[in-house]
Amino acid sequence: MEVVRPEPVIRTVDLTKIYNNGGVPVAALRGVDLEVQPGEFVVIMGPSGSGKSTLAHLLGGLDSATSGEVWLDGRRLDTMSESARAVLRRTKIGFVFQFFNLIANMTVADNVELPSLLAGVSPREARERREELLETLGLTERADAAPSRLSGGEQQRVALARALANRPSVLLADEPTGNLDSRNAQQVLRLLDKVHKSGQTIVMVTHEARLASLADRMIYLFDGQVADDAPIEPPGRRTAGGLGGLADFGG
Ligand SMILES: Nc1ncnc2c1ncn2[C@@H]1O[C@H](COP(=O)(O)OP(=O)(O)OP(=O)(O)O)[C@@H](O)[C@H]1O
Ligand SMILES: [Mg+2]
Repeated sequence: MEVVRPEPVIRTVDLTKIYNNGGVPVAALRGVDLEVQPGEFVVIMGPSGSGKSTLAHLLGGLDSATSGEVWLDGRRLDTMSESARAVLRRTKIGFVFQFFNLIANMTVADNVELPSLLAGVSPREARERREELLETLGLTERADAAPSRLSGGEQQRVALARALANRPSVLLADEPTGNLDSRNAQQVLRLLDKVHKSGQTIVMVTHEARLASLADRMIYLFDGQVADDAPIEPPGRRTAGGLGGLADFGG
């Protein structure tokens, strides 16, 4: 009998990216095929220069591929017009980067609310989402502060709230703890875990093996290619019946 699988959130087919470094072509991605299923938490690892950030940018439609395909929620991203892609980025993709990229002259609350307003959500709904997110991420007390008055960990939590504001199909994070001390990094990871457990699909780039243990699956990039793609099975989960049955998996 044929097994019916859910539509992947992300799919790439033979994805390549060649940068032109002052006339010298640099192949950052060389034929990457991958699928990310709804609710999965995938970490992308690999040495510096292996193409992790390049892949994250292409998955999020922030840059164009040289060849190959990128699909998000069953729609092909790489052949869309830049304006159509911008709409999709605003509504279906949440980004968290190493440096928090918050708007300095807006309060924490406004930073978190802005993406919803830009996506055309009503001001009332945008405010409700903002309040809920600040609460979930433990930031309610800091709502009226300017980002510069927050600790690194708090700023990254604001960036996470902002990325989640439009209930994105996928949360893309590129070294989200790369700029934090270990205590703040732990805090951000705990929140990512919480968000994942509520059903959010996450793709996170990291070079720290320690962080990968939170994820369901690890993709290892080497020299622009997928060198390994394997589930992460912490001890104790091995016998628990994997995904808990396909019925749960479908949502
Ligand atoms: N904008 C760019 N222009 C030219 N070359 C680039 C550009 N961005 C990345 N590259 C090159 O592409 C390759 C992959 O880079 P990428 O940033 O994806 O690596 P990475 O795995 O994220 O590395 P790191 O762990 O250091 O962040 C590298 O050789 C890099 O020098
Ligand atoms: Mg990188």
